Amino acid sequence: MKLGSIVWLSETESTQEVLKRADFPKGTVVVASRQIRGRGRLGRRWVSSEGGLYFSFLLEYKDIKGWDCLPLIIGYGVSDFLEDEGIPTAVKWPNDVYHGGKKISGILIERTGERLIAGVGINVNQERFPEDIDAVSMKIVKGRSFDLRMVLLKSLYFIEKSLLILEREGFEPIRKKIEEKLLYKGSEIIVNSEPPTVGILEGISSEGYLRVLTADGIKEIAGGEFSLRPYM
Ligand code: BTN
Repeated sequence: MKLGSIVWLSETESTQEVLKRADFPKGTVVVASRQIRGRGRLGRRWVSSEGGLYFSFLLEYKDIKGWDCLPLIIGYGVSDFLEDEGIPTAVKWPNDVYHGGKKISGILIERTGERLIAGVGINVNQERFPEDIDAVSMKIVKGRSFDLRMVLLKSLYFIEKSLLILEREGFEPIRKKIEEKLLYKGSEIIVNSEPPTVGILEGISSEGYLRVLTADGIKEIAGGEFSLRPYM
């Protein structure tokens, strides 16, 4: 997997849409300084004002072994990058990177036919966020601004590195590392399945599913959302 040309737009609706609408070669990276309708998982918005880094890149479905684990693999790459910048992080299943209990990056994977569009948002130079969003930026953590071009190139380097491990050795080596930095591992969580699943977060399965120890034994959950179970 090799990432290719970089197209940097000052503003666009969503970098995901740019890649969906035209026939770019695989590996193309589209970056925007602002997005008008940045989006997250489950149809949520992704606040995309000036200061953050918003990019998407194209992969081919056939090149990816087990795409359920892709958001975790990319999230792991971003988390590695942030740690290299001196920012401790945790990976939150299935697609987020956290620092100090707050979100610092989110990953969105969309499929159109044979193409996968991987979108990454990193909170870089924002000084504040809307009140309803529990987020933090690199600038808030480190007390200084970062060059967005450096953040793009370095985070792509770390993402490419983890994609290469996936390609050569499969998910297992990264799965183990993700488990070491998995947010809420060992804590009691509640998953928004139907009905909700309550249990202890055990780890990640070889497919990239959430493993939860419930009263009925281990359950593997393929998608959705979870939070810490509040004290009753
Ligand atoms: C999430 O946490 O739910 C995923 C957020 C993904 C945001 C990125 S920013 C670049 C790309 N373009 C979008 O509209 N979304 C992704």
